Formats: sequence, structure tokens, C-alpha cells
Amino acid sequence: MPYRRSKEEVEAAAGEVDYLRTVGSFAMQHTIVSIYSPSTVVKTPETTIRGRWATPGEDFSGEQLLLNYRPDNARISFQLGIGRFFEPDAVLTACHAELEEDLRAVATLPKPKRIRTGLSAVVDNRRSTRDFGKDPVSLADLATVLHHAQGMTGELPYGNPNDPHGVIRLRTVPSGGGLYPVTLFVQAFHVDGLADGAYEYLPHAHALGVVEFDGDPASVLRSVDFDVAGSGFVLTYVYNLLHNSRKYGDAGVVFGLIEVGGISQTVHLTRTALALAGVDQGGYDKQGIERALGLDGLSRHVVHMTVIGQEG
Ligand SMILES: Cc1cc2nc3c(=O)[nH]c(=O)nc-3n(C[C@H](O)[C@H](O)[C@H](O)COP(=O)(O)O)c2cc1C
Repeated sequence: MPYRRSKEEVEAAAGEVDYLRTVGSFAMQHTIVSIYSPSTVVKTPETTIRGRWATPGEDFSGEQLLLNYRPDNARISFQLGIGRFFEPDAVLTACHAELEEDLRAVATLPKPKRIRTGLSAVVDNRRSTRDFGKDPVSLADLATVLHHAQGMTGELPYGNPNDPHGVIRLRTVPSGGGLYPVTLFVQAFHVDGLADGAYEYLPHAHALGVVEFDGDPASVLRSVDFDVAGSGFVLTYVYNLLHNSRKYGDAGVVFGLIEVGGISQTVHLTRTALALAGVDQGGYDKQGIERALGLDGLSRHVVHMTVIGQEG
């Protein structure tokens, strides 16, 4: 429950701090954003909202998703649904997720380092930094970041008559239904012992699959805030919509983005422990990167990006 202040309390506070009225008026602007105001508690003339925020007929899609969000398939009447994923073929698919990895052209990775820095020290010291030094990042550090982000750390035995010893392999970061719909792509700019280029991290093999990049990576991945091509490497988070949404419906999208958050925080904590600089980039060219990486932008979507390098 939000803490409700009385009118007298608000007046007293506004009298003491002169900028509080400006803060309050900005904080309340969400009441004129929602185009769903007629159907929700927020009542504002729709023309005002559409005129300010969207052309006629356009939706505020993120809000529409959340307003329609239902946690289970009984309520969304989704065709496949959760129960379907306990059938033998679905379980066997989960037990053999490694078959999705294309091992025809791979760069091998060294064993990840074991990090001994205390967790609290790493958490307290994590900061986004945008100045990258000229020295390359070592391949061992890249392997360590990737392992901590997505590496295999356990097994869930799943007795199935067709495969009695089958296990679902589990990773460092949680994933709804153990489906792991997020893949990490790596663009190497300055990594010692690794040719500059695009790769996909293959967690089962702990290796990098070689990927074609159609275009100039420095320009496709550029940021207005910092020098991306001067970094060691860029991680692009790719979410496979159908991988978990055919089980969870719209919730799959939400789960996928939650998982991206878990992976990216682990990436930042790991690179902090390795004394590497790093920052997320929100203003990337989604369609441009998808085109360059050969992702269809329908089932596979670029949803986040993190840039890492030596400290400048
Ligand atoms: C989803 C997301 C997108 C971000 N996009 C950018 C960006 O495009 N450019 C940038 O310089 N920083 C970006 N950041 C970093 C934030 O500016 C930074 O996390 C914030 O200022 C808090 O600082 P801290 O990370 O040092 O605690 C992004 C962070 C997140 C989580």
C-alpha cells in the first residue's frame, strides 16, 4: 500500500522545500500518459493523451501487455499450455537442449576463473563505467564472464522410460521452466587470443560458435554515449520468443526479460570482480543489429546489450 500523506502534511512539506511542487507535478504526469484511462482508474480525456503521446490508432504496447497479463494458460486460454510441457517429447527436448548448439565452427574457450572476491564487496563496487583502456581483455576473462552469466552448474534428473538417465542441465541464472530462452552473442573488438568478429556463446559446449556479421560492427553497434568499438567486447542478449512463450503465452515475454536482468547483473558483478569496465546500452539499433546477425526479428529479438573492456 502506498503511504498516503494528508493535505496538511503535503502543504507543510511544500512550504519547506521550494522545488517539491515541481517534483510532484512531474511524478503525477503518468495520469496523462495512459491511453487505457477510460477502462482503468485513470480518467483523462483520450484526445489529450492521444494528441500528446501517440498517433490515432497506435497503442502503448508495453502497457497493453501488462494490462492483459495473465499468469497461467487457464486464464489466457492458450493452446499449448503448461501441462503440455510435462509430456515425454517436451521433457526429452529439454534433456537434449545441447542438440541446438551448432558445433561446426567454434572457437574454444579456456576454463573460467574461480572468483574469490567477496560478494558484498563486488555488489558495493559495481558501477557503470564508460571509459575503455587500450589493452585487450584476456580470453580467460571473457570465458569467466560468459560462464558466470550462462554456464552449466547442475542437473535435474528426469526419469523418462525412453531416457531413464535423462537430466535437464541447469545454469547459473534461473529460468522459467528451465527453458533458457536467452542467448548471448559476443562481438569481439579487443580480446587477446580471439579474432575480432561475431560469436554466439554455446553454454553446453562452453565454446563460441562463429557467426556471420553483415555490416561494420563499429557502426551497427555504436552508442551516442561511449566508444563501443574501443571496448573489449559487446554482449548482445537475444530472446527467443517462441522458446518459452508457447508454454507461458504473454508471460513468456515477461519471464524472458526478467532472465535478461538476471544474466546482465551477473555479467556486471563478474566483470567488476575482474576489474573490467562496463556499461549497458539501451539506445541500440534493434532492427539493424538483428539484420546484421541474421536474426529474423520475429521469433529472435535483440533485447539488451552490455559493453565491457579494460578500465580507461
Ligand atoms: C536497461 C539499461 C539501459 C542502459 N542504457 C544506457 C545507455 O544507453 N548509455 C549509458 O551510458 N548507460 C546506460 N545504462 C547505464 C545506466 O545509465 C546506469 O546503470 C545508471 O546511471 C546507474 O548507474 P550505475 O550503473 O553506475 O549504478 C543503462 C542501464 C540499463 C539497466
